[in-house]
Amino acid sequence: MNDIPQTNPDASEVVLAARHVAKSFGAVHALKGVNFDVHRGQVTTLFGENGAGKSTLMKILSGVQKPTKGEIILDGQPVELHSTMDAQHKGICIIHQELSLAPNMTVRDNIFMGREIMGPFGVDYAEEERQTRALMEELEEDIDPLSKVEDLRLGQQQIVEIARALSVDARILIMDEPTSALSASEVEVLFKVIHDLKARGVSIVYISHHLEEALTITDHAVVLRDGNMTAYAPRSEIDLEWIVVNMVGENFDLGSPPEVTFGAPALSIENLSVPSHTGVGLAVDGLDLDITAGEIVCIYGLMGAGRTELLECAAGRLKNTGGSIKLHGENVAGLTIAERINAGLVLVPEDRQRDGLVQTMTVGKNLSLASIGNFTRGLFTNHADEDKIIADSIRDVTVKTDGPGAPIGSLSGGNQQKVVIGKMLVTDPSVIMLDEPSRGIDIGAKAEVFKLLAERAKQGLAVLYTTSEVTECLSIAHRIIVMRRGKISATFTSDTTKEAIMAASGESMVA
Ligand SMILES: Nc1ncnc2c1ncn2[C@@H]1O[C@H](COP(=O)(O)OP(=O)(O)OP(=O)(O)O)[C@@H](O)[C@H]1O
Ligand SMILES: [Mg+2]
Repeated sequence: MNDIPQTNPDASEVVLAARHVAKSFGAVHALKGVNFDVHRGQVTTLFGENGAGKSTLMKILSGVQKPTKGEIILDGQPVELHSTMDAQHKGICIIHQELSLAPNMTVRDNIFMGREIMGPFGVDYAEEERQTRALMEELEEDIDPLSKVEDLRLGQQQIVEIARALSVDARILIMDEPTSALSASEVEVLFKVIHDLKARGVSIVYISHHLEEALTITDHAVVLRDGNMTAYAPRSEIDLEWIVVNMVGENFDLGSPPEVTFGAPALSIENLSVPSHTGVGLAVDGLDLDITAGEIVCIYGLMGAGRTELLECAAGRLKNTGGSIKLHGENVAGLTIAERINAGLVLVPEDRQRDGLVQTMTVGKNLSLASIGNFTRGLFTNHADEDKIIADSIRDVTVKTDGPGAPIGSLSGGNQQKVVIGKMLVTDPSVIMLDEPSRGIDIGAKAEVFKLLAERAKQGLAVLYTTSEVTECLSIAHRIIVMRRGKISATFTSDTTKEAIMAASGESMVA
């Protein structure tokens, strides 16, 4: 009786596994021999710093990339995944961190691209449309299947990406940062969908830098650090601090408001109105806001409160129908986006993939792109100056890269986002606006970026940033304003509470 070998009691519950998986890109060892288990009908969450190797591991488990070494075990058997289609046939599907939709195609066509439903007379568009509508209902999203993806806001595009993965009916679903652009209520719906999928036996791998949010659905937590699995535990044995300490080695706080002497008014917004992109009503409705040199202001609000429109209008990306925007007392109405950057007013946009980076250029060129004028005298570029500023910037915003010559596409998602922040800081602005700057960047990098902004504020930089994480309001900001339906609904100083901020936004406190 005793000759039965002892097995891990959990082993039969492991549906998909990586064994000693290594992946190198030239000299970069993204994964160094990782073991990873996906548990049947449960949520396995993968935590780790930017560049730790999370997306790479997931790409290997979903047939996007091949491992340099190691094995993939599916239902106890070694398998090779030759392509994403091959992985899909085996029941594995991935929702990518960087959205992979075709912007000029409809929602319906994006969902069924490559998997068209065929009827007797060719593609059955009516059936595809019906299924798209059903998916949108399941996700409680009011999106017309025939809208073009480029006309949707970022969060809605992310919903389409999720819907496409759901339509595959996979039994293993990998979600790489699925909520980075979603509103609180959209996240709630997604989590409901995750619970339903679990109840149907679907296994889920979940990746997010929103640690608190991720913990609420985690059954098993795995931490990846520098290409190695460094910690593993079931939900019952861990808390937030366990994750942070295993991710970065220490517990971080996001700083406190720097002591500065406020200077002259830097940005003065008066009675500003910006039309809503739907054409109905106003996204920003008669808003007044003054920020002085050295001051850090945080805008909190739900998705759709008008935060992005306010910032994009100030940056010259959207037109206002009323009111004025002044930079150091000068009206900026006649200035283009580039002229505003030259004048010292810059924006780090929300959709950094689309608006912030040139994918065909190197890390260094992306960093210096917006400030090239500073290194150029006539026809000549001062390369020594440029190189120094690029090197400083890579260090300041903690970009993990092979060097300035690396292609931007070789950086992990979070590190690409840091490049966009660095690129705008290099222009040496006097007012910097950042739309959800911490989205997708790890907690250590978040602390670094906030520290950097606080340092610059001491030198007179005016900072305006938005966030949907209430803990980030109570960090470096001297003043917290809450936006609701295009107006400021409340203003707080840094000694306020999370509860007060959330109540002013119209949000109820979630446990
Ligand atoms: N195609 C590539 N070419 C070269 N290096 C790459 C490539 N893809 C990834 N890397 C490198 O592999 C490492 C791991 O990247 P990966 O995208 O897996 O990180 P991640 O954990 O998903 O990070 P994030 O939280 O920022 O999304 C990084 O150092 C990255 O620069
Ligand atoms: Mg990633």
